[in-house]
Amino acid sequence: MSRPLPPFGSLRLRFMLAIGLWVSLGILGIWFTATQVFSRHIEESYHEELEVHVRELARLTEIGPDGVPMLSRPLSDPRYEVPLSGFYWQVSIPDRTTLKSESMTRGELDQRVAHSPDIAHVVEDGPTGPAITYGMIEEGPAGEEVHIVIATDQSELDNAIASFTRELTVWLVALAGLLLATGLAIISFGLRPLNRLGIAINRLRGGSASRLEGSYPAEITPLVSDLNAYIAQTSALVERGKVQAGNLAHSLRTPLAVVTDEAERLSENSQCADSARVLLEQSERMQQQIDYQLARARSAAMAKLPGSMSVLPTLARPILQAMTRLHPDIRFTAPTNAGEISLPVDPVVLSELLSILLDNAGKWAREEVQLSYTRDPAGAVTITIADDGPGMTEEQIARACDIGTRFDPATPGSGLGLAIAREICADLGCEFELTSKEGGLVARLTFANNGGK
Ligand SMILES: Nc1ncnc2c1ncn2[C@@H]1O[C@H](COP(=O)(O)OP(=O)(O)O)[C@@H](O)[C@H]1O
Ligand SMILES: [Mg+2]
Repeated sequence: MSRPLPPFGSLRLRFMLAIGLWVSLGILGIWFTATQVFSRHIEESYHEELEVHVRELARLTEIGPDGVPMLSRPLSDPRYEVPLSGFYWQVSIPDRTTLKSESMTRGELDQRVAHSPDIAHVVEDGPTGPAITYGMIEEGPAGEEVHIVIATDQSELDNAIASFTRELTVWLVALAGLLLATGLAIISFGLRPLNRLGIAINRLRGGSASRLEGSYPAEITPLVSDLNAYIAQTSALVERGKVQAGNLAHSLRTPLAVVTDEAERLSENSQCADSARVLLEQSERMQQQIDYQLARARSAAMAKLPGSMSVLPTLARPILQAMTRLHPDIRFTAPTNAGEISLPVDPVVLSELLSILLDNAGKWAREEVQLSYTRDPAGAVTITIADDGPGMTEEQIARACDIGTRFDPATPGSGLGLAIAREICADLGCEFELTSKEGGLVARLTFANNGGK
């Protein structure tokens, strides 16, 4: 019954995709700009700090009387004293002498980096891999050029940036997860009225409500009101149709009785006996149709009115008493300790159904008719009516529910009982099954679980 969904046919899926896309784009954008801005910021402050070191080194450098440079005290950053720590300094006077930090146990820094009184920096090969090298020239007391150079491993800066990026990524992934989770929660909250609407429609279809109930958000209310108006209009139409069918059937009864009467009188006249027989046959068929349609209209109108309830065995007791009077030779039995079972169907319609089946069983049974009912763990109720009569063949069972079908002309009847029984079952939404075994016919009614107790 349900049609295949178009692509992205679920609202939830659409919202989820939109939120997923939006969150991913947003988070990626934030990640990209934040890493750019912060890397630059880290880089700038790193350079600033190292330039402070260069100036400190310049300030501490003194040229001794022999023209040899020396430091008045060590640099304040202890890393310049740890061998191969990645932090190195060098003070040199070209063609004369070079003073190095204790950390620089090997290699030499390129003094050409220092080529002006302003601090410049380049990436060079250092003692422990690529190094950012800062340099400046200062003038010694004798007018000589003193090259002040400081180098730090490039990996120091790279590590600082990498560790920041790692931390940022973890936080942003957590944020994305949080945003998606709240998005899901918002979608579920937003779609709740639609779920309620689905439940209301199910109740409507199950017959436990005659309109869509509940209050809905402003966006859905017009739809619900329109649907309710449409349902009311359709129900009224169906109702009117049923009443009209009933009226039509009733209004045909009297003329038909007159025609039958007339045909019976004609049949006494031997000249038109044949025509009279045809008229009588046809009138009988019309009578059957009328009775059938009336029974149908009645059960269709009442079968599943909201709020109806039938309770077994209370409902079955008077029917069984009537059947005992109708078929005095037959023993009708019902379970005595099966407990109470209630079904959400109209008691009058269910009584009519049971009467039809019990009457048939009573007509054809030899001695006994058994009525029984059970509720299975899933809540489905089964009612069985079994007799010990001749039963029917497979082929007879297949045709038994057709209007006017009778296999035993000796027993009185109209051939409508099973046809009406099948219609009532369709109206009640229960499964109807006839089976025949050697011991007689078994009629089984199965009501799926739909709210009874
Ligand atoms: N319990 C039964 N045992 C044997 N035959 C049955 C039984 N119930 C129905 N039938 C057969 O099915 C036919 C149709 O039944 P139904 O529609 O109730 O019509 P009616 O009872 O008016 O004859 C009956 O004429 C009968 O031949
Ligand atoms: Mg019958």
